[in-house]
Amino acid sequence: MRGLQTLSTVLLAVAAQGKYIVPGGRWRDTEGNLVNAHAGGVTFDEKSGKFWWFGEHKIEGQEEGGGVSVYSSEDLATWEAHGLALEPIEGHEYISPENVIQRPKVVYSEEADQWHMWWHADNSTYGWLLQGLATSDNPAGPYTFVDATAPLGNWSQDFGLFTDYKDGRSYALYSNGDSVEGRDIYLSRFNDNVTALEDVVHRFPKFDLEAPTIIQTEKSYWALMSHKTGYRPNNVVAFRADSLDGPWSQPWIVAPLNTRTFNSQSGFSLRIKGTKKTTYLYMGDQWDSNSLWESRYIWLPMEIDERKKTLELAWHDVYDLNVKTGEWKPVKGKTYTTGKAKTNGEAYKQEANFATDGVILTGIYGNDSTVTFEGIEGTGKPQWVSFYYQNIDDMGFGDQPQGSPDRIGGPWQLRRISSVVVNGKTENVETLYQRDSHKGIILSTPLQLTLEKGRRNTITVGGLYNGVDYKGADLDRIVVYPSEK
Ligand SMILES: *[C@@H]1O[C@H](CO)[C@@H](O)[C@H](O)[C@H]1NC(C)=O
Ligand SMILES: *[C@@H]1O[C@H](CO)[C@@H](O)[C@H](O)[C@H]1NC(C)=O
Ligand SMILES: *[C@@H]1O[C@H](CO)[C@@H](O)[C@H](O)[C@H]1NC(C)=O
Ligand SMILES: *[C@@H]1O[C@H](CO)[C@@H](O)[C@H](O)[C@H]1NC(C)=O
Repeated sequence: MRGLQTLSTVLLAVAAQGKYIVPGGRWRDTEGNLVNAHAGGVTFDEKSGKFWWFGEHKIEGQEEGGGVSVYSSEDLATWEAHGLALEPIEGHEYISPENVIQRPKVVYSEEADQWHMWWHADNSTYGWLLQGLATSDNPAGPYTFVDATAPLGNWSQDFGLFTDYKDGRSYALYSNGDSVEGRDIYLSRFNDNVTALEDVVHRFPKFDLEAPTIIQTEKSYWALMSHKTGYRPNNVVAFRADSLDGPWSQPWIVAPLNTRTFNSQSGFSLRIKGTKKTTYLYMGDQWDSNSLWESRYIWLPMEIDERKKTLELAWHDVYDLNVKTGEWKPVKGKTYTTGKAKTNGEAYKQEANFATDGVILTGIYGNDSTVTFEGIEGTGKPQWVSFYYQNIDDMGFGDQPQGSPDRIGGPWQLRRISSVVVNGKTENVETLYQRDSHKGIILSTPLQLTLEKGRRNTITVGGLYNGVDYKGADLDRIVVYPSEK
C-alpha cells in the first residue's frame, strides 16, 4: 500500500495554509459551494500528495440518486471539487438514480495499480444488501462499475473500509442489516488486489450497530459504530482490541452523555502521522433529515489513552491542524456571555444553574423577541462565531408535547433556526441551525460572519421559521474566533 506509511515524507513539501477545521460549520469548497460528500471516506495519495474525499452527493429534495462526489485537499481544510467520481447511469441495474449508492470508500490497490471504490449497493427498499465495486486509474475518477456482490454470501448494509498501515491489508466492515438473523457487524479481509473478500476476521454479534469504522494506533485497533436511529444522532460507541481478530473489548460511549456524539454519526476515521505527532481524526456525519444535502460534518481529534484503554471525543469549536507535523491545537476565541446581551421584546434572561452566568437567554421568537450581544470585537474579515445554545425540544416539537425525548415516529424537528444579524443590517440575515440538545445540555453551532474592525459590533439573534415555528433556541454565550490567516 502506498498510502499513509509515507505520509510524513510527502507532506514535508506541503505548505501550511492556515485554514481552520470547524466541526458543524458550513464547509465550502474552493468555489464557494457547500462540500457535498456525505458518509464517505478520505484516502491519501502519495503521488499527488493529496487527500481525496469521497462521499454521497446529495441533491436538494432527494434522498438518493446523487452518485459519489470527490474532493481533494493538501491540508484537510481547503477542498477542491472534482465533480462526480461515480455517476449514476439511467437504467443501470445497480447504479441508476433509483439505486442506493451509500457510504463509498476508496482504496488504492497496489497489485492492480488502480483505485477501487466500494460502497453499499442496493435497491431503493434495501432488499439486496450488496457491496459495489468500481475502479479507476486515478483517484479523481471517473470510476467504472465492475460488479455488486454479496460479501461471502451474506448481507451488507452500512459499509466501512479499513487499511492496516503495518501490512497494507484492507478490510471491509459492514452491518448485515436489520433482520432478526442479521444485526451483526462483520470485519472481513479483502484479497491482495482488493477485488473481493477472502474471509471473516471477526463478527461483532447482535449489537445491532451501524456506520462502522476502525482506527489503528501503534498498539491497538479501535472500532467505532453508532446505534441505529436513522438520521437521528445517538451515542457512538467504541471497542478496542490488540489484534483485528480479537478478542474485542466491551463497547463504551465515546462522547459526553446527552450530546448524541455532538449530534453526529460515526462513519470514517483517519490516522495522520506527522513529523512530530500522530493525530487520529473522527470523521462523523451530522445528518440533517429536513434537508439531507445540507448535512454537515463533525471532524474531531480523538483522545486515545493506550494505558487506560480509552478513546474519547472532546468538543472544539475551531482548531488548527497541521497535517505535516501531525499537530493540532484549539484556536482561542473571545467569549461574550449573557452579561453582554440585551433582550428585546419578550425575550428574557431566566435562571439556569447550568448556564455560564447562571441565566440563559430564552423566549427568542420571530423578528421582535430577540437578543443583542454588544461590544463585540471584529477584524473586518470573515471570522467564525460559535453560538452556544440549548434546544430542549428533545425531538418532540409542534403538535408533540414537550418532554417526549427522542420520540420516534413523531413529527420531530431536528432543529430550530435562528436569524443572526450583524450591526443591525437586516438585509443580511444569516441562518443559524440549532439542533436538538437535551434539557440543560449546551452545544454550539458555528457561523462565519464578517464584523467591522474594532470593538463596537453588535450581533442580534431572533427566531426564523423552521417548518413548524419561529422559535430560536436558548442562548448561553457566543465565542468569536480570529480570522483565518
Ligand atoms: C428490492 O429487492 C427485494 C429483494 O429482491 C424485493 O423484494 C423488493 O421488491 C425490491 N424493491 C424494489 C423497489 O424493487
Ligand atoms: C448472514 O449472517 C448471519 C449471522 O450473522 C446468518 O444468520 C445469516 O443466515 C447469514 N445470511 C446469509 C444470506 O448468509
Ligand atoms: C485479483 O486476485 C485474484 C486472486 O486473488 C484473481 O483471481 C483476480 O483475477 C485478480 N483481479 C485483478 C483485477 O487483478
Ligand atoms: C420577520 O420578517 C420577515 C421579513 O420582513 C418576514 O418575512 C417574516 O414573516 C417575519 N417573521 C415574523 C415571525 O414576524
